[in-house]
Amino acid sequence: MPRDLKIVYYVEADAAALAARAAERFVELTEQAVAARGQARIAISGGSTPKAAFRLMGDPGQPWRARMPWDKIDLWWVDERCVPPGDPDSNYRMTREALLDHVPLAPGQNHRMEGELEPEKAAARYEAELRSGFRLEGAELPRFDVLQLGMGPDGHTASLFPHSLALHEMSRLVTANKVEGVKDSLRITLTRPVINNAAEVFFLIGGADKAQILKEVMLGPRDEERLPSQLIHPENGILTLLLDRAAAALLPPPDAQGCGILERN
Ligand code: 6PG
Repeated sequence: MPRDLKIVYYVEADAAALAARAAERFVELTEQAVAARGQARIAISGGSTPKAAFRLMGDPGQPWRARMPWDKIDLWWVDERCVPPGDPDSNYRMTREALLDHVPLAPGQNHRMEGELEPEKAAARYEAELRSGFRLEGAELPRFDVLQLGMGPDGHTASLFPHSLALHEMSRLVTANKVEGVKDSLRITLTRPVINNAAEVFFLIGGADKAQILKEVMLGPRDEERLPSQLIHPENGILTLLLDRAAAALLPPPDAQGCGILERN
């Protein structure tokens, strides 16, 4: 029986405030990791929601770029579409345009998933890079200091899509996944054991189109095949959600500080 999960959610007024809250979360968790371990290994998701936060983190006119200890960061991806890095659907391209082109990360500090390769080969190569980068032995899992997730309107997260084979992958670190009925239906994704082993996991979710699915995932009965985001149960027993009001509309109202807490086992 899974241990209880404490879900802490922070609700911001709108998309701009949510982006600022996400930039702050990335920076504060990175600062904590560097203070504790001398480095920060960060895994980011793609899609559209993180773009505004990445832009803020790369903007010299904003406070976060100067606070970020860029030389101490190793940047990894949670998932990638099986397209070349210059493709409009590439998560790497989105991140490069919003962030990487504007910050001093050396090439060796960012670990791109090779979406241009045959999916299984790309997954195997990324797994090998994780094993090398984290100096893993045997069945050890990489432990990201910070891992950011999004949530699709169908309840998927990373590229763990409803009723897909990747949901049940418990031994590999990275797997390819064929997604029925989704544009660019081939993906590469970190697997759920890797995601749940991260020290700090947070979802970044905005927009009214996510309100219903968020309610189902967080408050509804367990149905992990249909709602893969319910598989996310970090080892530390705490799951953080950064939301805007529109996405949080069907959750219990937060307190006066915009914070709410849910318990789930
Ligand atoms: C991807 C993402 C995916 C994303 C959700 C939410 O490759 O698309 O990693 O898991 O986080 O689909 O995407 P939006 O933020 O665009 O709604």
